[in-house]
Amino acid sequence: MKRVLSGIQPSGTLTIGNYLGAMKHFVELQDEADCLFCIVDLHAITVPQDPQELRHNSRSLAALYLAAGIDPKKSVLFVQSHVPAHAELGWILQCIAYYGELSRMTQFKDKASRHEVVTAGLFTYPALMAADILLYQADLVPVGEDQKQHLELTRDVAERFNSRFGETFVIPEPMIPKVGGRIMSLEDPSKKMSKSDASEGAYISMLDDPDVIRRKIMRAVTDSEREVRYDPERKPAISNLLTIFSLFSGRSIEDLEKEYHDAGYGTFKKALAEVVVEALRPIQQRYHEWMNSPDLDRVLREGAEKASALAAPTIAKVKERVGFLS
Ligand code: AQP
Repeated sequence: MKRVLSGIQPSGTLTIGNYLGAMKHFVELQDEADCLFCIVDLHAITVPQDPQELRHNSRSLAALYLAAGIDPKKSVLFVQSHVPAHAELGWILQCIAYYGELSRMTQFKDKASRHEVVTAGLFTYPALMAADILLYQADLVPVGEDQKQHLELTRDVAERFNSRFGETFVIPEPMIPKVGGRIMSLEDPSKKMSKSDASEGAYISMLDDPDVIRRKIMRAVTDSEREVRYDPERKPAISNLLTIFSLFSGRSIEDLEKEYHDAGYGTFKKALAEVVVEALRPIQQRYHEWMNSPDLDRVLREGAEKASALAAPTIAKVKERVGFLS
């Protein structure tokens, strides 16, 4: 079986972008691969986090993984900071990655431009992400489009390490969905939907109330035409809404175009809002059950034990290869 690893930051409540671009695929992969899914809290602190909120967001993200369908009997679900080998390998890989290649990361440039203070951790983030993946010898990494460049860096760093110190790491492949790999902001379709967007109207959170979802969709930007037509170049906002509709309903974009072409944006948006509300309803219900269950902390404890055991041989080998005393 192929090994799969992916992570999500507990930097706010997940958006439907995180779900459609990543989490939904994690759930599908569980039956065909050996999966590890991570709550990457070490990544979250690359930008300022309130400690109490971070703790809440980490549990909340765990509950959402489980509510969305991650089954702890099939997959290992754990918190990154519970497995110290991530930070250890992250440091070693910071000493393998080059300043020049980290400087080229577009996500760093984008996030750095949005924060007054830019931490060294935000800059070296991709080396830690490489460690997350290489520590488990993952073959496949399901991620959204925005992580593609980080995955390429992971491959380069792994190849460099292997050629300098001998075969150590499996070279991972990214798995980016053909549709939904980049869900855009509801307020600005040139920008991706992000859970830390300063404007709440830009995203739909997985835990938004039905009325909030309806309001955000009805207010989503469109264009001056009336036609519901998929044309990402000329009609990026409507194309984004069609993508969301298609992924939540399981209907093809052509089918939706046929039904809503001349219906007007209002009717189309009302139908979309109901589809999103109904798709999120069972997930939200299970989420609240998990948040109130003592089993949540047990799942994370057992996940950390399993992940630590899987990481141990790789971190031991890496330390020996680079010349640390045992
Ligand atoms: N808009 C998106 N469309 C599709 N996939 C997306 N992902 C993120 N945004 C979209 C994918 O979700 C996974 C988890 O992302 P993350 O939380 O680790 O970090 P991120 O990519 O930085 O996501 P956000 O929502 O933008 O978080 P903040 O605002 O905290 O930076 C990844 O697989 C990502 O590709």
